[in-house]
Amino acid sequence: MKVDVLLGLQWGDEGKGKVVDVLTPRYDVVARFQGGPNAGHTLEFEGQKYVLRSIPSGIFQGDKVNIIGNGVVLDPSLFKAEAEALEASGHPLKERLHISKKAHLILPTHRILDAAYEAAKGDAKVGTTGKGIGPTYTDKVSRTGLRVGDILHNFEQKYAAAKARHEQILKSLNYEYDITEMEKTWLEGIDYLRTFHLVDSEHEVNNLLRAGKSVLCEGAQGTLLDVDFGSYPFVTSSNTICAGACSGLGLGPNKIGEVYGIMKAYCTRVGAGPFPTELFDETGKTLRNLGHEYGAVTGRERRCGWVDLVALRYAIMLNGVTQLILMKSDVLDGFDTIKACVAYKVNGEEIDYFPFDITEGVEPVYAELPGWKTDMTKITSEDEFPEEFNAYITFLEEQLETPIKIVSVGPDRAQTIERYVD
Ligand code: GDP
Ligand code: IMO
Ligand code: MG
Repeated sequence: MKVDVLLGLQWGDEGKGKVVDVLTPRYDVVARFQGGPNAGHTLEFEGQKYVLRSIPSGIFQGDKVNIIGNGVVLDPSLFKAEAEALEASGHPLKERLHISKKAHLILPTHRILDAAYEAAKGDAKVGTTGKGIGPTYTDKVSRTGLRVGDILHNFEQKYAAAKARHEQILKSLNYEYDITEMEKTWLEGIDYLRTFHLVDSEHEVNNLLRAGKSVLCEGAQGTLLDVDFGSYPFVTSSNTICAGACSGLGLGPNKIGEVYGIMKAYCTRVGAGPFPTELFDETGKTLRNLGHEYGAVTGRERRCGWVDLVALRYAIMLNGVTQLILMKSDVLDGFDTIKACVAYKVNGEEIDYFPFDITEGVEPVYAELPGWKTDMTKITSEDEFPEEFNAYITFLEEQLETPIKIVSVGPDRAQTIERYVD
């Protein structure tokens, strides 16, 4: 019996998809527990690149069971497009993908509401992915949502009632829209969804565990986008932290073993909201260009900055991270010196914790380390690490009081180096 959780420690896009794919051979089951098609998880292997939004990143490694848990919100039209594209590229998934009947459905009107609320916020907008995430989770918590299991009985009636309620809200916002086309593809998506294994995934996961199987839970977004602990209100609408794996799959907390925390060697953010170490200069642009920091889903430019160890310590605490996975250090290969934020200065006073409000007046205090000036993308084992790189990871491990067990040196599955191997 074993459940390990893998999640992002920053503002998303840390490289979760790549590492889930790498780790999948060690597990029997891979399960998504929160978020929806706001996620864009990129995997590269054998010269091919795939971006997954709702389907777990374990789908490419043999006959593993992949589960979309109850904590996920699912858009049937986007799901259909994603699943059909995978099938067409030679990756059959119908038998291997199980979807919780308790996962909530994103309706076409949820997407319109997302856009309408953002427009109403004007300059204060969150910069959402526009996928209807917030309105769908709002309906879930307000006890008015529709779930995947609802498509099995009297669905037309339930859908008409939910749509009418959304239309009332949109009318009160004077928001112009036309959902004719969107609704047509969405209803096709509902029919497509009916052809999948729709399951009580909480029973399935626990039965598998009882039978001695192991489960890898795949987080979406990142800890700093968590609805409780992130940079609220510039967050997503789900619990992205480790606790979300328990509620989003129906797992007791005592079942959790390893918690893999994924971090980039620098930091990025998409959408609005505070970002203490953001760089507006040439260095920021260099990070964006070298790291190809453009959204996997929206194509939006990702904001870039130095790694923030204050925020990472907070994230490690919230998740109970047992091991770190360091991503994209190769992007820093050409830098003479590398900075890491070790504390914040607020009103002239130095603090080492993540405060209630990071919106304004938070100034990063940096440590500077020598760069390694080596092409890391070809390196295949820890023995080949340059001295400066070893010093850099030792510094991170000391600052974060957690071992870095995997170092990723490129987007491909093969560009992955394990440390502390027995
Ligand atoms: P996710 O949402 O956490 O799965 O991450 P994304 O897929 O949105 O963004 C990560 C991006 O970095 C993708 O384009 C990956 O192919 C790429 N990537 C992952 N690991 C590495 C790495 O170690 N080095 C480089 N250069 N790129 C990486
Ligand atoms: P992955 O899983 C990066 C951000 C959006 C916005 C905020 C709220 O690929 O790491 P939402 O549509 O969720 O209501 O938007 O959250 N956001 C992400 N940023 N990676 C993601 O997912 C994200 N999912 C949402 O940009 O700022
Ligand atoms: Mg992403």
